[in-house]
Amino acid sequence: MNSCHLITGGAGFIGSCHVLQTRASGTPVVTLDKLTYSGNLANLASLAGDADHVFVQGDIGNSELVAHLLRTHRPSAVINFAAESHVDRSILDPEAFVRTNVLGTTALLRCVLAYWRSLKEEEQRRFRFLHVSTDEVFGSLGPEEPAFTEHTPYAPNSPYAASKAASDHLVRAFHETYGLPVLLTNCSNNYGPRQFPEKLIPLLVRNALDRAPLPIYGTGQNVRDWLHVEDHCAAIARVLEAGTPGRSYNIGGRAERNNLDVARAVCAILDEERPHADGPYADLIRFVTDRPGHDWRYAMNCDRIERELGWRPRHSFDSGLRDTVRWYLNNGDWLEAVQSGAYRQWLETNYAGR
Ligand code: NAD
Ligand code: TYD
Repeated sequence: MNSCHLITGGAGFIGSCHVLQTRASGTPVVTLDKLTYSGNLANLASLAGDADHVFVQGDIGNSELVAHLLRTHRPSAVINFAAESHVDRSILDPEAFVRTNVLGTTALLRCVLAYWRSLKEEEQRRFRFLHVSTDEVFGSLGPEEPAFTEHTPYAPNSPYAASKAASDHLVRAFHETYGLPVLLTNCSNNYGPRQFPEKLIPLLVRNALDRAPLPIYGTGQNVRDWLHVEDHCAAIARVLEAGTPGRSYNIGGRAERNNLDVARAVCAILDEERPHADGPYADLIRFVTDRPGHDWRYAMNCDRIERELGWRPRHSFDSGLRDTVRWYLNNGDWLEAVQSGAYRQWLETNYAGR
């Protein structure tokens, strides 16, 4: 395989979008994914029969497997999406987040370092390790505070954010200590096709279609910045291509919305696309007990990636959200298939008695 990319977590929501975009650009891909509850091979179904895509089920913490894949496929880049990714789950089971996000990432880094050291000088110069991270490492903003920059000190509040912050620090340390050519991206909330329906937007669509309550934590005034997943992956590709090793890049949509407004927007689209005789979908919105430690607001200052790398999002939130809701309406089989017994158990654990 010529100059391939090793993409970890490539069967998840964002990773699968990146695998598809990378293959569309012509670069061969090896996908490594443990296929946890949120990993789904159906996300890569369109690559069936593609000789330049190899899928391997496995853990980023399995050093023997990772070393074998690196030796065999000799990638010119490793992009790490693999993670436990849901804040509410991290509140109930923090250790799982430490295992994959901290220990798994560290094991991956060690394997990648050994591989990088084995490369010829020219290959070493071209190689990149890109770690995909989140705006949540920066903590929470008040309503009027300026957006996070790459220089904002880390202040993670949830076990998820703390585990991602720890992994970011390790990535940076591998650059400072060993000279590994790393890149870091910190992105805001993603939305789009193939997002596991534990996250806000697909959960709202799924519940609305079932005429189930639409749970909004607290007052619904918490603010997130939303970015379409395809724009996130395009930004990652641009950072890989032209980012400076050792640097981090903020990625965001300049689309701050409070959760209640997002829920109302989803309902309004559903009213148009799939009107229901019982009345508007917004009637299903219910305020429920808040998430403990719920960050109030995230906002990203993306000047660096815009100025240095010329990246800009292509999707507006309004049209991107409509396309996304339509995708879930048109892919009822996908939505049905991911709702296993474990998924229903999660809904019971997180929402019953809230
Ligand atoms: P996801 O939960 O949909 O996907 C995670 C994938 O990683 C799954 O396919 C899962 O099977 C795989 N995985 C988990 N543990 C693994 C392990 N130990 N070894 C190998 N594979 C493993 O999550 P996502 O939303 O696609 O997020 C991907 C990355 O992007 C994460 O690192 C997350 O922190 C980051 N991120 C997400 C968002 C967002 O809004 N979803 C925003 C910014 C950054
Ligand atoms: P989520 O999609 O879990 O992403 P994150 O916590 O990483 O931002 O949640 C987005 C926002 O929506 C967050 O402020 C929590 C809120 N939320 C609800 O109000 N109800 C829900 O059922 C969920 C899952 C999230």
